[in-house]
Amino acid sequence: MSKDTAKLSFSGGEHEFSVREGTIGPSVIDISSLYKETGAFTYDPGFTSTASCDSQITFIDGDEGVLLHRGYPIEQLAEHGDFLEVCYLLLYGELPTKTQKEDFDFRVTRHTMVHEQMNRFFTGFRRDAHPMAVMCGTVGALSAFYHDSTDISDPHQRMVASMRMIAKMPTIAAMAYKYHIGQPFVYPQNDLDYASNFLRMCFAVPCEEYKVNPVLARAMNRIFILHADHEQNASTSTVRLAGSSGANPFACIAAGIACLWGPAHGGANEAALNMLAEIGSVDRIPEYIERAKDKNDPFRLMGFGHRVYKNYDPRAKIMQKTTHEVLGELGIKDDPMLEVAMELEKIALHDEYFVEKKLYPNIDFYSGITLRALGFPTNMFTVLFSVARTVGWIAQWKEMIEDPHQRIGRPRQLYTGAPKRDYLPINKR
Ligand code: CMC
Repeated sequence: MSKDTAKLSFSGGEHEFSVREGTIGPSVIDISSLYKETGAFTYDPGFTSTASCDSQITFIDGDEGVLLHRGYPIEQLAEHGDFLEVCYLLLYGELPTKTQKEDFDFRVTRHTMVHEQMNRFFTGFRRDAHPMAVMCGTVGALSAFYHDSTDISDPHQRMVASMRMIAKMPTIAAMAYKYHIGQPFVYPQNDLDYASNFLRMCFAVPCEEYKVNPVLARAMNRIFILHADHEQNASTSTVRLAGSSGANPFACIAAGIACLWGPAHGGANEAALNMLAEIGSVDRIPEYIERAKDKNDPFRLMGFGHRVYKNYDPRAKIMQKTTHEVLGELGIKDDPMLEVAMELEKIALHDEYFVEKKLYPNIDFYSGITLRALGFPTNMFTVLFSVARTVGWIAQWKEMIEDPHQRIGRPRQLYTGAPKRDYLPINKR
């Protein structure tokens, strides 16, 4: 608690509110008693000034372009870490020792298969369904298949549900892809690391030997790390809000996936690549820059701008390096899309409109090019994001459930509809 207080003069009264300090980051004015004291609500559409919870998991300084998980900079985790190590860190607060890591890997690995009956569940979908639609349905259905880990008041069941979700998401995502392209499902292979196993489940076929390329597996591992958590973003807040009612974790994660699908959030990587394809060549960039600046045109440069980052997204820098590593490994020298992307980035970083509004490239600007080079079709991009973000959602959900002050989330509103009026029979309207 800070010594500072915030004073509010309102409706003839003086009110004082305590100010809370986090470890780092802005102070927070605690207005939880505001309604009781004044009878008024606060108004903050889009929650641009509202902290919805206490959290010890992730910190972002958007002005400085800093992202920390449990205090560790994303650059260090992406450079030296392994995705399951980052999962452990997000879930338990500390990096694992060697024994803890081995035990965690073992526990996750034992849950990689899905109930065999789920294969039939997949075949109920149309083959041309968007894989994110399939993800929403199948992940939501996990609560029907794993009912023995849906009691959220039992810490053991919470732990089992968490392991199950982290372990099964790559399997389900790969199944969504295989079903979409009409190939047989590939079972997980538990002696492979998380990223390699996922690549194999996506790209192996039963009739051929599949060798995982270690450079591509490292890139996949890094993509998973970069997307693992991002504090109280839209999908995480959705998971927390859904979970605040006591809903089971599988249902909450399905809600998070639905939110992530939107083009302003996780769907931006797919939208960014589609945009680069539409621009097609460097000479057409000025036309699209003009459109992005035109208030009467709904077009936006996908992969640019961020609610929190008003500086270069630190994840975008690492992603850019990964993109070059992957293209180098695959011998892709003259990728026209990369050429458009690099030129677009250069122009936007110097254009007055983008500079003034602090619109920098975000992670989605480069992730699409890398994922396409890895062999994924655009409609799988957000699916991969959801695989990686599952651990963040789970860690945030667990933190909320374990918070002794946790209550159901229930925002208020400024009602602007009709005042009270009387019902009129149809012949009098
Ligand atoms: N292209 C052109 N103009 C933009 C863009 C853009 N990409 N982004 C923001 N602006 C303008 C916007 O028109 C507004 O202008 P004005 O003040 O004149 O009305 C100003 O910048 C502020 O934009 P905003 O919409 O109020 O900002 P926001 O914080 O509500 O939205 C955003 C953030 C990410 C939704 C938005 O920047 C955007 O739509 N970007 C493109 C989609 C995208 O790349 N999303 C991925 C986000 S990163 C991955 C993730 O976390 O999911």
